Order: sequence, then C-alpha cells, then structure tokens
Amino acid sequence: MADIDNLQDGKNYYLDLPPRSTPSRIKGSNALDWGMKNRLARIFDPEDARTVMLAIDHGYFQGPTTGLERIDVTIVPLIPYADALMVTRGSLRSSIPAEISRPVVLRSTGGQSILKELSNELVAVDIDDAIRLNASAMAVQVYVGGVHEHESIGNLVNVVDAGNRFGVPTMAVTGVGKDLVRDAKYLGLATRICAEVGPHFVKTYFCEKGFSRVAAGCPVPLVIAGGKKLPELDALKMAYQAVEEGAAGVDMGRNIFQCDAPQAMIQAVRAVVHGDETPEKAFDLYLSLKSVPANR
Ligand code: 5RP
Repeated sequence: MADIDNLQDGKNYYLDLPPRSTPSRIKGSNALDWGMKNRLARIFDPEDARTVMLAIDHGYFQGPTTGLERIDVTIVPLIPYADALMVTRGSLRSSIPAEISRPVVLRSTGGQSILKELSNELVAVDIDDAIRLNASAMAVQVYVGGVHEHESIGNLVNVVDAGNRFGVPTMAVTGVGKDLVRDAKYLGLATRICAEVGPHFVKTYFCEKGFSRVAAGCPVPLVIAGGKKLPELDALKMAYQAVEEGAAGVDMGRNIFQCDAPQAMIQAVRAVVHGDETPEKAFDLYLSLKSVPANR
C-alpha cells in the first residue's frame, strides 16, 4: 500500500507566475501532438531548430555506393557528429549498433533500382516495424513530374497517415530521377506539393537562384541533400547559402562520407549549420581536423 503517513498539501504554487508554455521553434509544428514534437526535437536541435542529418540510404536503389561498402567501418564512427541518421532498416539492423543515441530517420520507400525507372517506388516499411526500430521519422521519396508521380504521392499519403496514428513524423524527399531540372520553379512546386500532403519536414536540393523562395513557400522545415561529391569548400558554401536562405539544415551523404576525411567534414558542416560559421572558416576547420587521426 502506498505510504500516506505525513501526507502534506502542496505548498508553493507560484501564484505570481503565469503557466509556462514554450512555442516550438520548428517551423509549422505548433499544432502537433507531444510525441510528434518530441521526435522532431530529437532531429532538429531545439536551440536553433536546425539539423545535420547524415544520409546513408543510397544503397536502397544503387547498391554498394562508394563510401558505404562497409557501413560498420566507415559510418559508425561518424554517428556521434550527426544530429540524425537517415538509413534503411536493412542497414540499421545489420550494421548500426542499437546503442547509438542519435535518432533514426528511416527510409520507408523503395522497390526500384538504377537499372529501371527510378520513380517506381512502393512503401517498403510497415509502421509497426518503424516503431519497433524506434524510428524518430520515416522518409518517403516523391517524384513530382516523374512517371510514377501519382503512386509516389500516394505513398506519402499512406506513410503520413500511418505515422499520424502513432506520433511518428514523416519526411518527404523530392526525387528528381535522371531527367527533372533542379531549378527554383521545379523545387518550389515539388516541395509545396509534398508539404500540402502533410509530412513534417521536406528534403530537397539546393538551387543557386531562388532558393529563398523555395524555402519560404514550404510551410515545414526544408533540409537539403548534398548531391554528388563536390570539392569540400563548395559543399560548405552550398550548406551555408542554404541555411542563410531559409533551410533548416542538411541531410547530407556523399559530400561527407566520400570525403578524404569524413569526420573532419561533418564537423565542418556542423560549424556552418549550427555555428553560422562562414564556409571559409569552416573549411579551415576541416583542414585542421583532417590532420588529426580519425576515430575508428
Ligand atoms: C536519395 C536520398 C539520399 O539519401 C540523398 O539524396 C543522399 O544525400 P546526398 O545527395 O547528399 O548524397 O534521399 O534520394
């Protein structure tokens, strides 16, 4: 039986203080339920509402991508520097230790390969398994203007609905396949169409001209993919310009894990995204960290 001896009335109700309620800094998230907000706050640093996600899901359609041949060797040491890890359930279960403290954004569509039509995807993870894996969000590729545009938007609808039942956010990823142009007009169209379906954040590509309009037109946080490997300074410039123009951070893959010094690069990207460091200073940081032996 619970101990009721010496039971006392509460004493200090701070009657002079109004109830505290902190609005979320994560764009478009104020009306969400507690579990959704809590999971989003694991991905986006509540201090600045930004994130450095590490994307390592490329194998789901292109096989053993350079830098991801041995995820257990090359990627696991990078995880402490990432705010979140974007990964397939296959790689997660086989190669990532369950003891990591970083949140997982689970790649949840697939079903095609580089040998065939890229937009031909299906939902590749059940919500039950996403929850079993303690996913903090699910990621769905959407091919606006692609051959299978309609089905890919249908996949987003289904995953958002499933996630909403359990408080698991969804990230829409605007896939461009081999043919679509990555300009502001297209990215603005694709990201807004995605956002209207109800995902909680959207991943897209950066464009040199008009990215601020793409970000402003998307009512939820926008994170950028890095795209193909660039010289490090150029990748840092891209990340800097993207956050300057309204991105909530990056979900970067090849520009980190295909670097000569991935641990140095991810820390330099963090300096830009979370520290508002200039690309040039972040590049100096990259060079100085590059000379330090990496953790293995
Ligand atoms: C595939 C993805 C990838 O995760 C993403 O594009 C990879 O990031 P990066 O372009 O930086 O290598 O979503 O569509």
